[in-house]
Amino acid sequence: MNIYYNEKDLNSYLEHLKVNNKTIGFVPTMGALHLGHASLIEKGLQQNDIVVVSIFVNPTQFDNQEDLVKYPRTLEKDTKLLSRISKTKITVYAPTVEDIYGEHVQSTSFSYDGLEHEMEGRFRDGHFDGVGTIVKRLFEIVQPDKAYFGEKDFQQLMIVKKLVEKHHLPVQVVGCKIHREKDGLAMSSRNMRLKAEYRKAAPFIYKTLNAAKEKFGVSSANKVTKWVENQFANHELLELEYFIIANVDTLKTVKRKSNNNTYRAFIAVYADDIRLIDNIALN
Ligand code: PAF
Repeated sequence: MNIYYNEKDLNSYLEHLKVNNKTIGFVPTMGALHLGHASLIEKGLQQNDIVVVSIFVNPTQFDNQEDLVKYPRTLEKDTKLLSRISKTKITVYAPTVEDIYGEHVQSTSFSYDGLEHEMEGRFRDGHFDGVGTIVKRLFEIVQPDKAYFGEKDFQQLMIVKKLVEKHHLPVQVVGCKIHREKDGLAMSSRNMRLKAEYRKAAPFIYKTLNAAKEKFGVSSANKVTKWVENQFANHELLELEYFIIANVDTLKTVKRKSNNNTYRAFIAVYADDIRLIDNIALN
C-alpha cells in the first residue's frame, strides 16, 4: 500500500492518476481507524478508482489541549486495517503538522451561514474553524472527485457541504450512515479510550436516543428534551452535556414541531473525561 508523508510526494502520485483519468475518492480521518471508517472507505472504493485516506490529528480543531494530547495515534495498526481492505486501491496520506500548516499552526475563520453557532460550535470553541481549515486544505491537496463523511458528526457533514458550496470547491460530499457496535454505541476513535465500566455504560446513549425518538412521535420537543435530561441526571457514570432536537436544515433547536420539517436529535455526553456524540433521525 502506498503511504505518503508529504504533499509533494502525494502530488506526483496523484498527477499520474489524473493523467490517466482515474477517479479519486477521499476519506479524511484522524486515524485510530475502526469499522466506521472502513465502511466509508468501502463506499469510496465502490464509487472511485482509488481512495486516498488521510490520517492527521488536526491540532486546530481541538479546543481542549488534553484531548489533543491523548487522542489515539495508531498509524501502524491503521495501515494494517487498510491493507486488509485493499492493498492496491488505497493510498494513505499521513502528513506532518508542518506539511499542512507550515510555521503557523492556526485556523482561518469561516462562516457557514449560522450552522457553526449551534451544538458542537457552541460547546467547542473554534472547532469548526479548525475543521474548515483542514478540510479545505486537504481538498486542495488531494483534489478528490468525491469525499466521504460519517453522519455521526452530522453537523460537521453539513458544515463541510456548506464549505464546498460557499467556496465552489469541485468535490462531491457524500454522507454515510452511522456505524454502530453490536450494543448500539456509535463507533468512534475515542471509544478505545473508555475504561471498562464506562464502555459498558455507553450504549445507554443510543438506547436513550431511540426512546426519545419514540416519545417524539407523541410528545413535544420540549417534553422529550426534559425527559432525556432526567434520564442522565439519574445516571451514575454518564454526564449529559447537551441533548437537542433540531431542524435538520438549520440545526436550530426546535421550539414547536411542524409536519413539514425534518428533525434530528443530537447528544453529547461525557463518559469520565471522554466526550461522546451521537444523533438520530426523528421523522
Ligand atoms: O471527523 C474527523 O475525523 C475530522 O474532523 C476530520 C474530518 C478528519 C478533519 O480533521
